[in-house]
Amino acid sequence: MIYQGNAITVARGTRNGGDDIAMLTFDLKGESINKLSSAVVAELDDAVQAIRAVNGLKGLVIGSAKDVFIVGADITEFHGLFEKGEEYLVEMNLKVHEIFNAIEDLPFPTVTAINGLALGGGCEVTLTTDFRVMGEKAKIGLPETKLGILPGWGGCVRLPRLIGADNAVEWIAGGSENRADAALKVGAVDAVVPNDQLEAAALDILARANAGELDYLARRAEKTSPLKLNAIEQMMAFETAKGYVAGKAGPHYPAPIEAIKVIQKGAGEERARAQAIEAKAFAKLALTDVCYNLVGLFLNDQVVKKKAGKYEKQAKAVKQTAVLGAGIMGGGIAYQSASKGTPILMKDIKEEAIELGLKESRKLFAKQVERGKLTTEQMAEKLTHIRPTLSYGDFGHVDLVVEAVVENPKVKDAVLTEVEGQVGQDTILTSNTSTISITRLAQNLKRPENFCGMHFFNPVHRMPLVEVIRGEKTGDAAVAATVAYARAMGKTPIVVNDCPGFLVNRVLFPYFGGFSLLVEQGADFQRVDKVMEKFGWPMGPAYLLDVVGMDTAVHANEVMAEGFPDRMARDGKTAIQVMYENERLGQKNDKGFYAYEEDKKGKPKKVSDTNAYELVKQVVKQEKEFSDEDIVARMMVPLCLETVRCLEDGIVDTPAEADMALIYGIGFPPFRGGALRYIDAMGVAEFVELADGLAEELGPLYAPTDKLRQMAQSGERFYSTQAQR
Ligand SMILES: NC(=O)c1ccc[n+]([C@@H]2O[C@H](COP(=O)([O-])OP(=O)(O)OC[C@H]3O[C@@H](n4cnc5c(N)ncnc54)[C@H](O)[C@@H]3O)[C@@H](O)[C@H]2O)c1
Repeated sequence: MIYQGNAITVARGTRNGGDDIAMLTFDLKGESINKLSSAVVAELDDAVQAIRAVNGLKGLVIGSAKDVFIVGADITEFHGLFEKGEEYLVEMNLKVHEIFNAIEDLPFPTVTAINGLALGGGCEVTLTTDFRVMGEKAKIGLPETKLGILPGWGGCVRLPRLIGADNAVEWIAGGSENRADAALKVGAVDAVVPNDQLEAAALDILARANAGELDYLARRAEKTSPLKLNAIEQMMAFETAKGYVAGKAGPHYPAPIEAIKVIQKGAGEERARAQAIEAKAFAKLALTDVCYNLVGLFLNDQVVKKKAGKYEKQAKAVKQTAVLGAGIMGGGIAYQSASKGTPILMKDIKEEAIELGLKESRKLFAKQVERGKLTTEQMAEKLTHIRPTLSYGDFGHVDLVVEAVVENPKVKDAVLTEVEGQVGQDTILTSNTSTISITRLAQNLKRPENFCGMHFFNPVHRMPLVEVIRGEKTGDAAVAATVAYARAMGKTPIVVNDCPGFLVNRVLFPYFGGFSLLVEQGADFQRVDKVMEKFGWPMGPAYLLDVVGMDTAVHANEVMAEGFPDRMARDGKTAIQVMYENERLGQKNDKGFYAYEEDKKGKPKKVSDTNAYELVKQVVKQEKEFSDEDIVARMMVPLCLETVRCLEDGIVDTPAEADMALIYGIGFPPFRGGALRYIDAMGVAEFVELADGLAEELGPLYAPTDKLRQMAQSGERFYSTQAQR
């Protein structure tokens, strides 16, 4: 044994009996995956030193004893490390470069056997060796830019030298996970073999290198010397790519462009210089708010997944489900369930509705076939997972039912009591209602413990969030099964308690309240849209209202006003009501705040409409001037405050879940991390001050809670990991 650590062992010899090959194996104790935490990197340093001290070695194989190779650096350490500042981070990365360079410079050929995921720092480890062999099912990539940073352990330097600047730009700026065949095609790996032949293939490469058949020193020289690009190649690889990537990433995500600049700057340099450029740029990005928030997002996502995982463990199997109602939502739910492999009955009372629901599903499956994601046979097979019906015939065998009939409490009551009589004692009933209290819907049920909310978002196949709503009498088994089903459908479930609007709509409607007030005081609604889109929302509030539908919005708003009259009830009409009364329902009838025309692809395209402006004049009471900053504050403060209230009222358990629900449910700008991270970033005290100022003029919708004031006074934050920024 050459080295034995907690995560790394280096053994001498191979299974075939020789003893001149060092076998370095990653196998982090007590974890299911390998990751490069600071401790593991320190071990790697020791391991490489130990290898260097051994005489008579003729090669090194780096491998993993887990299913993955290495998933990357340990992201849970990022916030703590990054707050140590730029200088620290530059030093940290230069130290890692030293270790990685030592592997690259070993006096014998080296190879990595990539058996599974090799991402981020894991991918960068593989780049240190002269050769790479890859298992057929493994994946490799550098997803750092998705976290607002760039590959900082040599990825920006070695990858372009290995696969060409153009390919490297694509991999790094896109952050993709690449399959073995794609990796082989660009030359990122030298061979792809079945996993059980990885070690043999790696040893074979070493033998051939030692026999002089493969010139490992030439490969090494290529990887460590400046990249030779002519002017046209430079232009194509960098300038053209920058334009394209900037357009795609948008102004709020600087990392992909920075990565391209680093590759470009380092391209003509020797290894050490290029690595220094990379280290500096990494440190700069690591200190940005965007990076802080994107890392936070990753961590929050882990929290949400862990919680769902706990429920899943307790859940009974959900093998057969049913949906009541084949409308927009019912059809979408049936498609999603079938597409992910859970057979589903789709019941409606109208033959035409079923036809429509099926047609929609067929269309969605056909798109998958068009994109090459499904074969026609697979599509046919998946379609058989949706069984349309007008009767309760097979409901006796159903594990879980999603009710998605019209949003009318009487109809829902009738349908739910009816279906309860048709299913087994243990069948879980859920409702996709957006506005009716789950506790109330449970009132007429015989087994209210088996009932909860399962709130999908439209369009179901695209929106990642499912709110699982616990009513007063909902039991754990119902929540667990519903969470498990949502996960089986590929969704992110977040469990919340019952209240008007549940979590997401309860937070969204105060935002619309802010919008109505702005319009009333003379703000141009198209300008509000532009400002909020610039802030990072996928669409501004007026556009979003058109997508939601004015009828739905007016109805939901009434429910919210009844539930929270002090801050959500309004005297007088809002612009939303005026649109509704004038039958401008939004996209569903081609006119709302905007008018909609079909574009070339048959998709609705919004255009400005003077009629909408004429109507809005009815509610305009003042002609105030607003700065962009005013608009953002007036829109965001009510949304943030309602999120705070949901947390204080125990509607949602943790800041992580609240923020993720907003990102996944309503497209809250991910790089801002969520409403509570937004408050943290501003500073709780500053936020309270801003809200107080607005509340004076605009009333209780803007008034901070007592608890938030206390937090401001005591310097408390929603997320405690971060020191003052
Ligand atoms: N559309 C959205 O954006 C959205 C988003 C989240 C939740 N929801 C909720 O989902 C539910 C359905 O909304 P939708 O937009 O799909 O409505 P929809 O009008 O498109 O569909 C409702 C379907 O239910 C059927 N139906 C009526 N009574 C029935 C019964 N007794 N048994 C079986 N089917 C019956 C109707 O024939 C119709 O096909 C509502 O509760 C709504 O609030 C809607």
